[in-house]
Amino acid sequence: IFAHVKQSGAGAPLYLRLRKSIEDAVSRGALLPGDALPSERDIAASADISRVTVRKAIQDLVQHGVLVQRHGSGTFVAPRMERVEQSLSRLTSFTEDMARRGLDVRSVWLDRGVYAPSPEEMMALGLSAEAMVSRVSRLRIANDTPLAIERASISAGFLPDPNAIGSSLYAALEARGCKPVRAVQRISATNLGEADAELLEVTPGSAGLNIERISYLPSGKVVEFTRSVYRGDAYDFVAELRLGT
Ligand code: GLP
Repeated sequence: IFAHVKQSGAGAPLYLRLRKSIEDAVSRGALLPGDALPSERDIAASADISRVTVRKAIQDLVQHGVLVQRHGSGTFVAPRMERVEQSLSRLTSFTEDMARRGLDVRSVWLDRGVYAPSPEEMMALGLSAEAMVSRVSRLRIANDTPLAIERASISAGFLPDPNAIGSSLYAALEARGCKPVRAVQRISATNLGEADAELLEVTPGSAGLNIERISYLPSGKVVEFTRSVYRGDAYDFVAELRLGT
């Protein structure tokens, strides 16, 4: 893959020639999604170019989503991920959405515990200052691609023990007889900050979607207040519109 970089694309800057060789290797399947790239040093040696040039080419490919970098473990060919098309008119859970598409769901816990509510949580959930709130924060992963960070707050009255949740929050709520039946969702654009971008394995500043969901029980009581950030390159939200007043 790297041996002929110098002979290819005469005239073009070396980092672009290296970039092209890597892209070609990915498109002809010589490098597969998830494959680890050799170290910068090894690439530089086999292509007989400087490490600075190698780094520039890799950075470029990371920015374009061809490669991903994981702290401490190296550079990999990005997993192939089709954009997820998500209906805006049905109340579903992440687990249900991904299962319907035949994708494997995994979550990494970022936080779970019972806390005194923040003013924002008190407002959204209609809690008094004495009430407690269960927080459930997860990085949500489908087929090994991190798609979203979800930070859910549930009144501890409905969910006293966030540690008892298995893989699905909605399944846990359903088991306790408080599955939401209606929700209001607000979506807005954002640029991902360093910490969120690192978790989602994209470059800081990449496009993201903030999604806030407040969901209700049949009684009209708020059961869930969730703030999520989704990868902008992975989601299309689709709604059916009808002519009407
Ligand atoms: C969606 C919603 C969240 C909700 C979650 C529950 O992703 N945006 O507001 O908390 O589903 O998903 P699960 O039941 O898989 O934990």
